[in-house]
Formats: sequence, structure tokens, C-alpha cells
Amino acid sequence: HCVGIIGAPFSKGQQRDGVQRGADLIRAAGLVQKLKGQGCVVKDYGNLTFEDIPNDEPIGRLKSPRAVGRANELLAGAVLKIKSDGNTCVMLGGDHSLAIGSISGHAASRHELSVLWVDAHADINTPLTTPTGNIHGQPLSYLIHELHSKIPIIPHFSWLKPCVAAKDIVYIGLRDVDPEEHYILKHLGIKTFSMTEVDRLGIAKVMEQTCDHMFSKVKKPIHLSFDIDALDPSVSPATGTPAAGGLTYREGIYITEHICQTGLLSAVDMVEVNPKQGKTEDEIKSTVNAAVDLLRSCFGRVREGSHEPDYQIP
Ligand code: ARG
Ligand code: MN
Ligand code: MN
Repeated sequence: HCVGIIGAPFSKGQQRDGVQRGADLIRAAGLVQKLKGQGCVVKDYGNLTFEDIPNDEPIGRLKSPRAVGRANELLAGAVLKIKSDGNTCVMLGGDHSLAIGSISGHAASRHELSVLWVDAHADINTPLTTPTGNIHGQPLSYLIHELHSKIPIIPHFSWLKPCVAAKDIVYIGLRDVDPEEHYILKHLGIKTFSMTEVDRLGIAKVMEQTCDHMFSKVKKPIHLSFDIDALDPSVSPATGTPAAGGLTYREGIYITEHICQTGLLSAVDMVEVNPKQGKTEDEIKSTVNAAVDLLRSCFGRVREGSHEPDYQIP
């Protein structure tokens, strides 16, 4: 595996300070060394620097619209470059509004993508349905062709073109979905495995059916957008919008192991790790370690263990 890592220390898609530190914490927990240790070729492209945008007044309900637009334009360019260099891209957030740039940049390098969105939340509010105005609750609405007519013109978003079809999206882990979002999901016929389906089917069947859905016609490259709040708060408490009743650590790892095995993983987002939301050092550690372990299993780490092909017992 050739892995290209880009850090995006950005928090203005929501209102809690601290999430901009997620990328550096995940690195400090040894991500690069651990990936190299399991045989990956890793290039760390460093962190993006986001310019400060003064007078970024709300537009309608949207908070910090210009900063989010600009940050994602920059990120899209960086992801396109990492993909053009021949890597699987790992985007370390930052908040989930960054999926706008990450998926756009990825899509610009490939014909069509499948998007696997692992999250407690659907993040598909439009600028008109959002109850909070936080753009981290909206990224998919900007990216989906079928919602294009519902997205108003917003300054610093003119670079953005919708790039994913509703049929190419699968959700896993939903348990906190706004009524307007629920309508959109049903209206567009988007494939969802809420925690109810995870309970009913078990994670193995969920992954089988996820892949059946994604590969029904052609095998498209996969964009995995992993919000750490998909995991249960007992595992990853250090996040801005925790929701009870989430995926276990093992279910999370099963998802990433399975996606790795498809051989189609082309880009990953790991977002919403917020150390300031951890009440203790252990809470922060547990959250960051989960993020690192999920990324390791995206790139070939398996729980049964592994060995070099030419190994001999000494
Ligand atoms: N649905 C809520 C909203 O639109 C919460 C979204 C939480 N999103 C996240 N990426 N953690 O604001
Ligand atoms: Mn979420
Ligand atoms: Mn999210």
C-alpha cells in the first residue's frame, strides 16, 4: 500500500474548539510508524494551513460559510495531488465539513466513486434544512447530484460541483438523524444500515450487503468517510456530538478490515476527534487509539496476525 496523509486542522464546520487538533494527535499516537511497520509506503504531506477569513458572517443559517468553502477548496486540491501521485489518500480532520473537499478532490482524480459514510449522523442537511447551521451536518447535500437544485449559491463554494450519485452512497452506524434528513434519505433511496440493522443482521452481513450494493454494476473506487462518533462513546468519547448506542470497537475494525479486503479503498477521512471533549487523558487516548487502529486495518493490518512470505522458524 502507498499511503498519502494530509492533515486538515479545521474546526469551523461546527462550534466546539479542539477538533482542529485531531490530525496532530493521531500522528503523535504513531500512525506513520505503525503503517510503515505493517509494510506500507507512507508519505506525510503535512498539514494544510487555513487562512483566517474576517467578517465571515452567517448566510441564512449557515455558520462560517466562507471559511468552510475556502478550506475545502484548498483540501480538494491537496487530495487531488495525493491521488495523482498514486497514493491512497488519508485525510485527518478536523470536522466532517472537510468531506466536501476530500470527496471532491478524490472525485476529480477518478471517474466515479462509491462513498461509505460511517457515522452516527447522516450529515445530509441542506443549507435550508439544517437545524444548527453547522456545515459538518451538511457535507453530503453539497456533493450529491440529486440535491444540486436545493443548494443555494454561497460565496467561496463556486468551485464545488456535485460529484456523487445517491445510489453510490452507503451509510453505516446511523442513530441520530434529523427528520428532514430522514426524508431526504428515503426520497433519494439511499442505502442505510442504521444501528437497528447492525443489531438485526450483525456486522458481517452488513458488510456483505454494503459491498453487494456498492459493486452491483461496476467496481468503483471507495471513499470511506469515517466519523469517529460512529463508535460508541464508551470507546470514543472525545468527540463533539457523541451519540449513545454506537458501534463497538470490534464492529468498527470489522468494517475497515472488510473494506481493505475489497482492494478498492482509494481514500479515507478520519474526522471529529476532539481532545477538548475528552473528560480525562484516558478518554482522549481511547478515542485517538481507536482512530489509529481503524486506519491500520484500512491498510492491511489483520487481527489474526501476519508474517513475511519467506519467513522460516530460526
Ligand atoms: N444533524 C445535526 C446537524 O445537522 C448534527 C450533525 C453532526 N455531524 C457531525 N459530523 N458530527 O447539525
Ligand atoms: Mn457524526
Ligand atoms: Mn459526521
